[in-house]
Amino acid sequence: MLPLTCLLLLLGRAAPAAGEYGLEITNNSPITTGAQATVHASLSVKNDSVTSDLYHFNWIYAPLILIQKSEQQFNSVIKVTGEFPGTFPVSVWVTHRNCWLCQPVARNVTMLQITEFVTGNLTIAQIEDSRLTTRGSSSSAGAVTRISFCLHDPSHFFKAASFVYNWDFGDGVYQITKEPFVYYNGSSAGNRTVHLKVIAEWEQMGSVLHERETVQKTGDFTTALELSDAVRSVNVVGSRETHVMENLSLSLHINGTPPLALCWLIKAECIPLDGEKCHLVVVNGSCYNLSHTFSYAGQYCLSVRVENGATVLQTYHPIRVRPAGIHPGLFVLLCIAAVSVVLGLVLYTTFRSATQQKDLVEVADFDFSPLSDRNLSPHSESGCGQICCRSCFLQSSQEAARESHELLLAFYKPVKTYTV
Ligand SMILES: *[C@@H]1O[C@H](CO)[C@@H](O)[C@H](O)[C@H]1NC(C)=O
Ligand SMILES: *[C@@H]1O[C@H](CO)[C@@H](O)[C@H](O)[C@H]1NC(C)=O
Ligand SMILES: *[C@@H]1O[C@H](CO)[C@@H](O)[C@H](O)[C@H]1NC(C)=O
Ligand SMILES: *[C@@H]1O[C@H](CO)[C@@H](O)[C@H](O)[C@H]1NC(C)=O
Ligand SMILES: *[C@@H]1O[C@H](CO)[C@@H](O)[C@H](O)[C@H]1NC(C)=O
Ligand SMILES: *[C@@H]1O[C@H](CO)[C@@H](O)[C@H](O)[C@H]1NC(C)=O
Ligand SMILES: *[C@@H]1O[C@H](CO)[C@@H](O)[C@H](O)[C@H]1NC(C)=O
Ligand SMILES: *[C@@H]1O[C@H](CO)[C@@H](O)[C@H](O)[C@H]1NC(C)=O
Repeated sequence: MLPLTCLLLLLGRAAPAAGEYGLEITNNSPITTGAQATVHASLSVKNDSVTSDLYHFNWIYAPLILIQKSEQQFNSVIKVTGEFPGTFPVSVWVTHRNCWLCQPVARNVTMLQITEFVTGNLTIAQIEDSRLTTRGSSSSAGAVTRISFCLHDPSHFFKAASFVYNWDFGDGVYQITKEPFVYYNGSSAGNRTVHLKVIAEWEQMGSVLHERETVQKTGDFTTALELSDAVRSVNVVGSRETHVMENLSLSLHINGTPPLALCWLIKAECIPLDGEKCHLVVVNGSCYNLSHTFSYAGQYCLSVRVENGATVLQTYHPIRVRPAGIHPGLFVLLCIAAVSVVLGLVLYTTFRSATQQKDLVEVADFDFSPLSDRNLSPHSESGCGQICCRSCFLQSSQEAARESHELLLAFYKPVKTYTV
């Protein structure tokens, strides 16, 4: 009776089409010898009308040793272990539960890797460390790299083990840690290869002598580390003072690996250029020249933000814009020059009067002129001094007043025209 049912079933199903079922098989290898691997098989039925059927999962895992097996309607999980390293196929096929002789509806195979070493992964993360300096001409930013080892031990085989990690950074730097991670502070940019030797050690009862024995497993890991250079410093070279309508040229010297994204902005205040609108330029070298002409006097700030792949650096350069006109220093020079000219005149007239006094005997009629000259010269001297000093004083006080006025103006009208 049973074979007939089976035959009927077979005929009824007429050899299931390959596309009707899917059987996915996965495993969590590689594992270390002695540890357990989990193999998971999952049947998917594409035709909804046959989902009520029951299925049976058949496994082939030899020479691995079965630890555990479980089965649900469309899933089956087995846990296996192996004493020897190698790559082992584990296959599964699914049949209808009530028809052992029927053709399997689906089959699949997975390769399980067993190694005598510790298994795991090395991961690299570059930690950004950008410090912002306010009003400084330069600052340094370093990128610290975190290299971590992630143990792959799904069956907690190493739960009693203690680990030692030997790191070799490929640049002559070695480090031994108890933690599975290190912070690597690369001094120079470039590519290097990081080697890690993991040593796991634990005690267990010996299988032969039933004595405590120490077991050791090791693992060697290698990863490529690409260190991008951080922007180390930004220096603004140029005057901190200029005049209205004067062409101020500034040089930005950047210590960092190009290409660098540089963004600059001149405003009344120093601004951290974070998403702010600024003049973005890509700098290929280590120097960028900018020139700017100010239309209004006042206090300004050049904000610069430099960025390369790894780091962001910000710097500020205060600029004082004086009103157009004669520089106070120049004015003092002019005053001195004027005084010298006047003194020269005085000396000249004194000399001339002396010679004229000689002529006095001959020409007594022109007696007044030297007197009037003498009267005039001290007057003119003090007069010029007064004028000079007063105008010096006047000039500077006027300038101060104008500046404070224009500083206010600048405060309300901070945006200026830029010329690169
Ligand atoms: C076998 O399993 C793999 C991994 O899950 C899957 O990608 C593949 O489609 C499966 N093959 C069949 C015929 O179901
Ligand atoms: C699903 O299976 C039924 C009977 O087994 C069949 O009649 C139907 O055509 C199938 N549907 C699809 C989409 O294959
Ligand atoms: C290592 O990491 C990659 C990606 O993070 C992952 O795909 C792979 O399975 C990991 N290998 C192990 C042994 O953990
Ligand atoms: C990295 O090294 C630089 C100099 O080589 C040092 O100034 C800096 O403090 C170091 N950073 C860390 C996190 O060790
Ligand atoms: C580092 O490696 C990357 C990719 O492997 C490559 O693009 C880059 O040029 C290398 N840098 C150096 C300094 O060798
Ligand atoms: C300012 O000077 C620089 C060179 O010093 C020049 O390239 C630029 O064109 C000048 N700008 C103006 C507006 O004169
Ligand atoms: C910077 O270099 C890139 C490619 O190396 C080039 O396309 C670009 O024109 C250069 N820019 C300048 C300003 O030199
Ligand atoms: C910037 O200006 C300096 C002198 O003012 C000059 O030597 C240098 O070549 C300039 N650099 C660029 C990139 O124009």
